[in-house]
Amino acid sequence: MRSSAFVLVLLCFVADAAVVEHTFNVGNLTVSRLCEHRVITAVNGQLPGPTVEANEGDTLVVHVTNESPYNMSIHWHGIFQMLSAWADGPNMVTQCPIRPGNSYTYKFNVTGQEGTLWWHAHVSFLRATVHGALIIRPRGGLARCPFPQPHNEVPIVLGEWWKANVVDVADEAFLTGGNPNISDAFTINGQPGDSYECSKKHTYRLKVVAGKTYMLRIINSALNNQLFFKVAGHNFTVVAVDASYTKPYKTDVVVIAPGQTVDALMVADAAPGRYYMAARPYISTGPQGPPFDSSTTTGIVNYRSAHGSSPPAMPTMPPFNDTATAHRFFTEITGLLKPGQPTVPLVVDEQMFVTFGLGLAPCEPGQVRCNTTAGSFAASMNNVSFRFPTTMSLLDAQYKGVSGVYTADFPDNPPVLFDFTNLTVNTDPSLQPLRSTVKGTKLKKVKHNATVEMVLQNTAILGTENHPLHLHGFNFFVLAQGFGNFNATAAASSYNLVDPQVRNTVAVPAGGWAVIRFVANNPGVWILHCHLDVHLPFGLATAFEVANGPTAESTLPPPPPDYPTC
Ligand code: C2O
Repeated sequence: MRSSAFVLVLLCFVADAAVVEHTFNVGNLTVSRLCEHRVITAVNGQLPGPTVEANEGDTLVVHVTNESPYNMSIHWHGIFQMLSAWADGPNMVTQCPIRPGNSYTYKFNVTGQEGTLWWHAHVSFLRATVHGALIIRPRGGLARCPFPQPHNEVPIVLGEWWKANVVDVADEAFLTGGNPNISDAFTINGQPGDSYECSKKHTYRLKVVAGKTYMLRIINSALNNQLFFKVAGHNFTVVAVDASYTKPYKTDVVVIAPGQTVDALMVADAAPGRYYMAARPYISTGPQGPPFDSSTTTGIVNYRSAHGSSPPAMPTMPPFNDTATAHRFFTEITGLLKPGQPTVPLVVDEQMFVTFGLGLAPCEPGQVRCNTTAGSFAASMNNVSFRFPTTMSLLDAQYKGVSGVYTADFPDNPPVLFDFTNLTVNTDPSLQPLRSTVKGTKLKKVKHNATVEMVLQNTAILGTENHPLHLHGFNFFVLAQGFGNFNATAAASSYNLVDPQVRNTVAVPAGGWAVIRFVANNPGVWILHCHLDVHLPFGLATAFEVANGPTAESTLPPPPPDYPTC
C-alpha cells in the first residue's frame, strides 16, 4: 500500500515536468539614475531583467532576440547544461554572438539542481545591465526544501552602475591596456538607494510582516566587486549557496563574490520599524591596490505595522579590507548532505596545479593607447593568458573537429615554480621575467567522467587579490582554502571530504589557494574564468574540453538549427 502510494506521488512529480518558455527582447532602455538619463541595454525593458522561474526537471526555452546595437549572448550561470552545451552562452566559447537583428533560442533542461541561479550577458561588460534571477524550486514546491518553508521569497540582485556606457568602459580599458574606470554606484534590484544623489525614489523597498520568515535570494551581479551585505537589526540563516543546499549557517553578514548566490533566511523579528539593507565592497587588494568604488547601496526593509517616519537604522558595515570576515564566511559554510546527492569522489584522475593572477604582455596592435614600454595588463593561468578565438566558437570547433582554433595543451602545472605569493616578485629585478605572460587558446582535454582536482594558487604578480573563479557546466566541491603557498602535505589534513561546500564560483583567497574537485560528466567545452569582468578580457581563463562518453546518452547532440555562426 505504502509503496504504491509512493509510486503515485513519484509519478505526479515526474508528470509535473513542464516547458517554461520566455521571450527576451534585448534592446535599448532609457532609465534615469544618479541625476541623469542613460540609455542602457536591457531585456524586455526591465532592470534587472525578468526573473526566470522553473521547477527542477523542467525544460527552459528562451527565445532571445537581439534588438540592441551590440553583439549579444546569454549565459545561464550555474546551469549544468547536461548535453546542451550549445545553450551555455559564453561568447566565442560555446557560440558566436547573436548579431544585432538576429535571434537564438536557448533550450535546456534544469535537472538535478535547486535554488538560486541567474542569467547574464556573456559578452563585453553588458552583464552590468543584462541580467536577472533564475530560480529553481524543487518539484512539488518550496515546501520540499530542506528547511522550514519561508513566508515569502525575494530576489536581491546586487548590481554595479556606471555613469557611462559600459561597452565604452570595456573598450576604453582595452585600448589603454589598463584597468577600466571604476563604477559610480552599486544597486539593489536595479536601484542605487538614497545614499546617492537624486536617488531617493530609486530605492528598493521590501515590505515585511513582523514575525514572518523571508528567504532572500541574493545574487552578486556586480561586475568587479565582492560585496558585504547586511540588514540592520536582523540576522540571516544561510541555507544554500550557488544553488546547493548548505547546513544552516547563522551570520549577520553575507559575503558574496560576483557570480555567487546566497539563499539566506531572515526572520522579521526586530521591533517593527524601518531598517536599511546595505551592500558595499570587500576589497582584498590591500593599501597598494587600484582605486575602487567605495559607495554603499541601500534598500529599506519596511515593517507593515510600522508607523512614523524616523530614518531607517543603518547596519554597521565591515571595513572594506575585512578579509577575516570574508574568509570566515567563505570557509565556514558546509554542504548539506542529501540522500542521492553526489558525494566527494575519492579517486582523482586529473590532478592540476594552476597558478593564476595578473601579469603583463606586450601591447596588441589594436591597443592604440597602450604604453608600449610598460605593456598591457594581462592575466593568466599557468602563465597562459587566454585568448578568445575569433572565427568560430571553441565548442563548434570541438564538435566539427576543426583544428587551428585552439590547442588541447593547457599545462597541468605552472612552467616555473617560485615563491608564488611573495610580493617581492614585483620589486626584485631578477624576478621581472615572471611577470610576463604568453597569450594562447589552450584547453585542458579530459575524458568523459574523469574526476578533476585543481589546486588554484593565486600569485602576487602585480598584487594579490581575491579572485572568484567560476566553472561553467559543473558544480565542484571546495575541499580546502588557505593563505600563502599551497603545501600538499600540510593541506591534506584540512581537506573536507565529508560535507564540503558545493559551488560553481569559488572566491580564492587573496594571496592564497583553494582546492576544488569535480566530475567531468558533461561533454562539451566549458570555460573556467575569473568572474571579475575586468579580468576576463585580460585573459584570466582557460577551458575544459570534455569528451563524449561511450553511449548515445553521453554524447553531445548536434547544434540547434538557429545556432549563431560567426
Ligand atoms: Cu556568470 Cu562565465 O559566467
